[in-house]
Amino acid sequence: MIEVIEAVEKIALRIRDAFISEDVLYSHSINATGDVQLKLDIKSDLIVEEELSKVFTLKEIISEEKEKILEVNPNGKYTIAYDPLDGSSLADVNLSVGSIFGIYEGGLSGKHLKAAIYVIYGPRVELVVARENVEIYKLKLNNKFHFLKELHLKNKGKLNAPGGTQQYWASYHKEMIDSFFKEGYRLRYSGGMVPDLHHILLKGGGIFSYPGTDDKPNGKLRMLFEVFPFAYIYEKAGGYAIDGKNRILDLTPKHIHDTTPCFFGSKYEIDKVKEVYGKRMKVE
Ligand code: AHG
Ligand code: MN
Ligand code: MN
Repeated sequence: MIEVIEAVEKIALRIRDAFISEDVLYSHSINATGDVQLKLDIKSDLIVEEELSKVFTLKEIISEEKEKILEVNPNGKYTIAYDPLDGSSLADVNLSVGSIFGIYEGGLSGKHLKAAIYVIYGPRVELVVARENVEIYKLKLNNKFHFLKELHLKNKGKLNAPGGTQQYWASYHKEMIDSFFKEGYRLRYSGGMVPDLHHILLKGGGIFSYPGTDDKPNGKLRMLFEVFPFAYIYEKAGGYAIDGKNRILDLTPKHIHDTTPCFFGSKYEIDKVKEVYGKRMKVE
């Protein structure tokens, strides 16, 4: 597994440099989910593919930007699913973005996840690795990542990051989000899953939600590249991740680009989601 982490460190350095060397214009191509790709999405995907192909323990790679699974080493044992550039619509306005990696062994479902890693490109570049524990590393001037600390979620937080188009929220979802604000929670939503979940993780608690809505009944966020890796990270940090009713890591996608509604947070907030969604699962 260490060889995968080392490859991600190289990827992080190269993508950081690409923010300066590449432009952030949209290309003329769309990806498997139908998003118009930025030139930076394409460049980041190439960087990740190049570095991961060299890792002998990786059998296959699955990218948010590629339609199909790509076999890289027939003798490898892991499959890695990645989002090379998450929150890329924030790249042109120079807000934080990230890269997400889920390392699977023996199948493609939440329970086959063996480790999860993300990189956040903000004023600093940081790496978060979850295996048994969740550890954060920061990039120093010598281009090496240095261990900072372990990350743990408390039982209750103060931040509320509500995703999805409000116009299409179910009424009970809106009431739930409002009830957190009435309890004193503060709005923190940048529009990038990596910085928004990183924010809650580093502050020790809160809730990030991306529900199913009228326009997107299965939400927007993709299971293999985005939702499972963060569910793994949140659970290992002592938090929770559910789709409303079920534990995210008990889910299995039918197709590699499948999405799911998702809620990440500490115990108090996720108990509240279960209470509300337990009664009403269907979008009204
Ligand atoms: P990507 O840039 O990889 O397509 O992902 C963007 C995602 C995620 O980062 C974020 O949480 C969500 O899209 C934001 O969606 P809304 O603009 O609908 O809030
Ligand atoms: Mn993404
Ligand atoms: Mn992306």
